[in-house]
Amino acid sequence: MKSRTTSDREPLDPVAESVAVYSDHADDYAAVHAPKMADRVERFADSLPAPSLILDAGCGPGRDLERFRAYGHVVRGVDLNPVFVAMASAHAPTFQCDLREVGTRFPAGTFDGVWASASLVHLDAADAVNVLGQFGGLLRPGGKLYVCLKATGRTGWLDEPDGRRWYTVWDPDEFAAAVAGAGFEVDSVDRGPYVEIWATRSS
Ligand SMILES: C[S@@+](CC[C@H](N)C(=O)[O-])C[C@H]1O[C@@H](n2cnc3c(N)ncnc32)[C@H](O)[C@@H]1O
Repeated sequence: MKSRTTSDREPLDPVAESVAVYSDHADDYAAVHAPKMADRVERFADSLPAPSLILDAGCGPGRDLERFRAYGHVVRGVDLNPVFVAMASAHAPTFQCDLREVGTRFPAGTFDGVWASASLVHLDAADAVNVLGQFGGLLRPGGKLYVCLKATGRTGWLDEPDGRRWYTVWDPDEFAAAVAGAGFEVDSVDRGPYVEIWATRSS
C-alpha cells in the first residue's frame, strides 16, 4: 500500500489545525498569558452595569472569565479547544463551540457583552466578518463588543515553538469598517501589534 505523504494528505481546516496546537502546552499557555489584558478587562467590565451577562468568545483557559466574575458580572465561555474548555469550566460554564457557528448556540440578544480577545486570529477574513455578524445577533441592542486581531506580520502559516498556526493579519481601518458593517458603532480603535476595537451594538 502506498504510504501517505505531506502532499497527498487530506487538506485540514486551518482553524481546527491551529486550535489543536494549543492542547499539548495548555498549562504553559495559561501561565504565560495569565498577567495579560487585565487593564482591558477592567475597561470592558466598567462599560457595563454589574451584573451583566458577558460571553467570552474564544476564552482559552478562562483567565478573563474569572476576572469578569470578580467585577460582579455573569459569564459564559466558548472555545473550540477541548483542553481549554475543560480548564475554563473551572471558572464559569464553558462550552465547546466553533465561533463560526456561535450564533446558533444561544438565542438572539442573549448577551450584554461579547469579549473576543485574540480569538478570531485564526479565521480567514470572510469567516471573521461572518462571526462579527453573529456576535451582533447575540448581543442586545446597546450591548458592548471588544475584539482584537493581529495587525502586524503577514497572513499565512506561522511556525511557532509548539506548532504551526494560521493567522490573518488585518489593516486596522479595514477591521474597524468590518465591525461597523456588522451592525456596530465603533467607539474606539486602539492600534498596536493587535488592533483592538471597542464597539456598541447599534439599536
Ligand atoms: C490566542 S488564543 C486567545 C485566548 C484568550 N482569549 C486570551 O486572550 O488569552 C485564541 C483562542 O481562540 C480559540 N479559537 C480560535 N479559533 C476558534 C474558533 N473558530 N472557535 C472557537 N474558539 C476558537 C482558541 O482555541 C484559543 O483558545
